[in-house]
Parts: sequence; C-alpha cells; structure tokens
Amino acid sequence: MGVEIAVDSLTKAFGKQLIWADVSLTIPAGEISVMLGPSGTGKSVFLKALIGLIKPDRGSILIEGTDIASCSEKDLYEIRKLFGVLFQDGAMFGSMNLYDNVAFPLREHTKKSESQIRDVVMEKMDLVGLLGAEDKLPGEISGGMRKRAGLARALVLDPEILLIDEPDSGLDPVRTSFINQLFIDLNAQIDATFLIVTHDINTARTVPDNLGLLYHKHLAMFGHREQLLSSEEPVVRQFLNAQTVGPIGMSEEKDADELAAEKDLHMPPLPPIALQLEPSNGIPRKSQRPPGEWCRENGVTPPPGSFTPEAALS
Ligand SMILES: Nc1ncnc2c1ncn2[C@@H]1O[C@H](COP(=O)(O)OP(=O)(O)O)[C@@H](O)[C@H]1O
Ligand SMILES: [Mg+2]
Repeated sequence: MGVEIAVDSLTKAFGKQLIWADVSLTIPAGEISVMLGPSGTGKSVFLKALIGLIKPDRGSILIEGTDIASCSEKDLYEIRKLFGVLFQDGAMFGSMNLYDNVAFPLREHTKKSESQIRDVVMEKMDLVGLLGAEDKLPGEISGGMRKRAGLARALVLDPEILLIDEPDSGLDPVRTSFINQLFIDLNAQIDATFLIVTHDINTARTVPDNLGLLYHKHLAMFGHREQLLSSEEPVVRQFLNAQTVGPIGMSEEKDADELAAEKDLHMPPLPPIALQLEPSNGIPRKSQRPPGEWCRENGVTPPPGSFTPEAALS
C-alpha cells in the first residue's frame, strides 16, 4: 500500500534565483522518508512541487503513471486526492474549532452525511491523541496540539501519500519525540508513503527508513538511513552530525581560505547509528528492516556502538 513518487531531473528557479537543479530520487511506496536540509534550501518548495502547487522548470514527478509536472489541471485534481498534507504552521482556520477544521475536507470533497463525517473525524482525532479537544479553537491550544490537529485533517481522506513540512518547528524536544513516535505508529496503521521535511537532525536520525539531504541547490544524497548515517561524504557527514569542520560554513559554503585553514583538523569520528523508532505496540511496520541489515548487505561497517539502546542518547 501507499504510492511511489518518482522524481527525475527536477529543477526550479524563481526568476534568477535557482532553488535546486537536477533533483532525482524515488520515494518508495509505504516507507517513511525524511528530506533534510538547512533553512532556505527549498524543502517547502519541493513539497509544493510534489502536489503541483508550484510548477518546476524542468523534470518530471511520476505518480501512478501521471506526471505532476506536466499534467492537466483535471488530472492534477484527481492525483491530489492521494495526498494528505501537513503544512508547517498547521494551517488551521482560526475561527473554526478543531472538529470543523478536521471535518472541512470531508465537507468539501465528499458527499458524506454529517453522521458519517462525525465517525471519520472522531476516528482521526483518536488516532492523533486529540479525542476530547474537538471544541477547542486553534488559538487555545499548544503548538504540538495544533500539529496533531493538522495531522488529523491530513488523514481524513485516507491519503496514500502524507507530506509533512517541519513537524518539529516550534516544538520542544519532548513534544518532538512524541510527534515522531506518532508518525511511526501512524505509518504502521495506515501504511501510506510518508515524506517528512525537516532540519531537525534527531528526527532525521531516528524516524525514517530513507533519508535525503538537500544542500546547496542539489540533492546531496538520498538512500537508506544507514547509508547516510554511515556516509563519509563530507557534506552529508557534516550536516547529519552537526559538525563545524567540513565544507558547510556559517551562511553558505566555506571559501578556499576557510577550507585551507582547517585542512589539518580531523573530522570527529562518526557517532553510532541509533536504533530506529519502532511502533509503540511492538508490532513491526511493513517497511521496517532489522537494524544493521543495510550495512551488512552492502559491506559497510557502521560506526562502533551502532544499533544499541545507548546509541540513541549520543
Ligand atoms: N512563491 C515563491 N516565489 C519566489 N520565491 C520563493 C517562493 N517560495 C519560496 N521562495 C524562495 O525559495 C527559497 C526556498 O524556500 P523554502 O522552500 O521555503 O525553503 P525551506 O523550506 O528549505 O526553508 C527561499 O529563498 C524563498 O524565498
Ligand atoms: Mg520550509
């Protein structure tokens, strides 16, 4: 279940400002993928391109045989029904209570009766742990609850693909951990394709099956989480481990002088790869692979201490 997204040679500029060029990757059906990247690298633009809100200049986005980048408005309308989207700020209607916010897509896009709508809304509110908060206004609840409500709304049309923009922005580390666990539990239950965009390294290290890094107008790498977390590629290594030594500077790429100045500095050793979060009911997700399997199959030695419970705390 879930649907694959095949992106090929995607390029987007706004006027003279190139956002990214030649982005190619296949987001596997039913799996959780995270796209990581510094602020302003075009992560949100990428998500918007995937649902056809922004037209790329070149390249294709194939979903079930339809190219989002070039299809008709009518086809786009149909394809969009496969998607649920959680925007960065939750994008709730401020004057509607949570119940009406979550019910909104059902009232707009289906012919369901109010009693059928009620069943769906309550089921999704339960899924995200918000049962009992239906009468609250978005302004009366915490940022974490608003994101959960946005997630419930993204789920009401039973999406095959869930796009989530910076779920951790504005949340403290504990609330971020809760929402990350919720993504794992949801993926186990609804089996959709998840794409989460974030600059939070902890989310990137513990949640996804696959990990990508957008950096300096390109996709630096996309692959299995164990591939990126054991990668020696300087940009990937520096970003995923939050290090100052490496090609990434304070604002952009370091210049030749800066790089020369640190040529004798060694990059700190790669930290151990943490265990991936598992569903809280203990039943594995379909796309979950045993810890270390990718490394074994590909002859890669993971950093010492990887895949132990202690690795999660490092
Ligand atoms: N509709 C738009 N028109 C012009 N420029 C835009 C538009 N949307 C985004 N941008 C620019 O694209 C760049 C990437 O933005 P964004 O995708 O929001 O970054 P991120 O989500 O990675 O922080 C930014 O410089 C932003 O100003
Ligand atoms: Mg963004």
